[in-house]
Amino acid sequence: MSRPLHVCVIGSGWIGKVHAQVYRELAGEFPTHLSFCDVDLARAEKARVEFDGAAAFASIEEACAAADVDLIDICLPHDLHVAAMETAAPSGKHVLLEKPMGRDVAECDRVISLVAPMKAKFMVAECWRFYSHVVRAIEAIRAGEIGRVFLIETCSVGRFAPPAWRRSLRAAGGGALMDRGVHFVDMLLALGGPVATVFSAQTRMAIQEIEGDDTSVMSVRYESGAIGQQLISWGFQRGIDRPYFCVHGTEGSLIDGDQLKLVRRDAEPRILAPSVGAGWPDYHMIRDTIRHFLDCVTNEKTPLFTPTMARADVELVTAAYASGREARSIDLPYNGPGAAA
Ligand SMILES: NC(=O)c1ccc[n+]([C@@H]2O[C@H](COP(=O)([O-])OP(=O)(O)OC[C@H]3O[C@@H](n4cnc5c(N)ncnc54)[C@H](O)[C@@H]3O)[C@@H](O)[C@H]2O)c1
Repeated sequence: MSRPLHVCVIGSGWIGKVHAQVYRELAGEFPTHLSFCDVDLARAEKARVEFDGAAAFASIEEACAAADVDLIDICLPHDLHVAAMETAAPSGKHVLLEKPMGRDVAECDRVISLVAPMKAKFMVAECWRFYSHVVRAIEAIRAGEIGRVFLIETCSVGRFAPPAWRRSLRAAGGGALMDRGVHFVDMLLALGGPVATVFSAQTRMAIQEIEGDDTSVMSVRYESGAIGQQLISWGFQRGIDRPYFCVHGTEGSLIDGDQLKLVRRDAEPRILAPSVGAGWPDYHMIRDTIRHFLDCVTNEKTPLFTPTMARADVELVTAAYASGREARSIDLPYNGPGAAA
């Protein structure tokens, strides 16, 4: 395509503006011009002015009807993802959808049925799949650098009292586990492969403003026989000071942190991946996610994060909620109710 891609960012809130910033940063590599859409038209117009955009729309229907828009980038609350996809998928435009794909497996299956006939590109923007340390860790595991994997840990802890729709169990489809935790569930699956069984518990004792969980723990048994665990919390008093992930194998461990380290019994620790850079770590991986999607759109490539992977993330999150609710382990496949059951 010779002219810049015209991207319309749907939802001019927190992440919509982060995406806009990323498109601007990537403009040298992938020229774009931007439009904005928000149910609050004044907010879309404000973003249009801030990012020197082309147009501001008040609905996704208007954005999808605009002939010159090439790519719809959906940055909406979780309960609006399916409805937005009902409009965006048949529009003929490329579609990037923020995580999670849906609030339960039934919603994910609806999205998958909508995207199946699409000729244009589609991807869920699961940014932690593009975390350079995860990408490097997967390479190291595949190359046998830590032997046979027997334990995977993922973790995200911090202080966050969410505003707006995130407080509603129905709108968010859960609490910290569905919102922040889905990234680290994706990490469990990316690093360890399919999960056979999950046992999990959630609580809400630290952040009173929300209906969902503020803290979740999870243990999984992988189909491979390895086991995994995850801790997610919005209730900690201090910032993140734990590794996002560790992978332990029979010959060594991969320890995430500012850098990714390989620790083996028979050698000095080695740095496998450098720091992602200063500031909010998610920004770097959101940039890499969007760069990948623009590359797929521009150069006719297939997005590496597939709808099936996005569905598997939601399946494990909702199975974990079922486990917490029913105080028992849940075997996968799981296609039952989500957190708002
Ligand atoms: N690290 C990450 O990957 C990350 C971080 C934050 C948010 N997210 C995801 O991004 C999505 C949006 O989250 P957010 O934090 O930006 O939310 P937000 O509340 O900040 O923004 C949502 C925006 O959508 C607008 N909106 C609501 N209904 C609409 C409609 N029908 N049509 C058009 N606009 C509408 C709202 O007015 C608001 O401006 C969620 O899926 C969330 O999980 C991802």
